[in-house]
Amino acid sequence: MSAVPVLETRGLGRRFGGLQAVSDVSFSVPAGQVLGVIGPNGAGKSTFINLVTGHTKPSEGRVLIDGKDLTGARPWVIAQAGVARTFQIVKPFRGMSVRENVAVGILYGSNGTNVMSKALKAAEEVLEEVGMAGLGDRPPGELSVADARRLEFAKALALRPRLLLLDEVMAGLRHTEIEPSLELIRKLKARGITIIVVEHVMKAILAVSDQVLVLHQGKVLTSGDPRDVLSDPRVIEAYLGHRYVKRREGES
Ligand SMILES: Nc1ncnc2c1ncn2[C@@H]1O[C@H](COP(=O)(O)OP(=O)(O)OP(=O)(O)O)[C@@H](O)[C@H]1O
Ligand SMILES: [Mg+2]
Repeated sequence: MSAVPVLETRGLGRRFGGLQAVSDVSFSVPAGQVLGVIGPNGAGKSTFINLVTGHTKPSEGRVLIDGKDLTGARPWVIAQAGVARTFQIVKPFRGMSVRENVAVGILYGSNGTNVMSKALKAAEEVLEEVGMAGLGDRPPGELSVADARRLEFAKALALRPRLLLLDEVMAGLRHTEIEPSLELIRKLKARGITIIVVEHVMKAILAVSDQVLVLHQGKVLTSGDPRDVLSDPRVIEAYLGHRYVKRREGES
């Protein structure tokens, strides 16, 4: 394992007018780890992802990928460095089939092919991998919520990333639909991909994360071992809130 973290942020921040959406986030993700990122709505999780992937420019701080300073680089430059992400609000290319949507990623990815027939074949493999075999001919608009999220996942995987950022890929999924996504994350980790998982589903965070980062009002509230972090009273108070505490009491 390389000593250089796959991702390092230093004092990363972003203001939107008077709002400091992300503030002074300094954090490293070692190669091959799964980092869970949690925090209440509006905590700055998606903005953090956008800052890493170049979809939002930082107001302050640095972003290093594999030790290389890519602060403020355009999204495609960061993608070329092996970084792929999903969008919280799904963004399929609507004029194309599901398979073509994934093929675009294969054509674009650095390890891909530039032959369309090969790209479509490879796309089919990625669709199988995310549990969407048989849906390749569909228009993305016809997909269920779960499959629309899986398509986001597939489009990101098609880029063959080394660092994958997942922004609530399990949101809106039923209980039984979550396990296959967790299994897939474990499989990708076993392949050596470094993964950042933004998720509100705590069970999912606990199941896959090597470490957890908690954002609150744009700042790092705490980070560390998933179980320690999730039982930290500050986290429970800031994020999980009364409802969660009550549910836990109800369970025991
Ligand atoms: N482009 C933007 N312009 C202005 N404000 C923004 C923009 N993007 C995000 N914000 C604000 O920044 C804050 C952090 O938003 P962000 O989407 O990063 O939160 P989040 O943690 O992803 O929340 P959620 O769990 O609801 O997805 C919010 O107050 C949000 O309204
Ligand atoms: Mg978000």
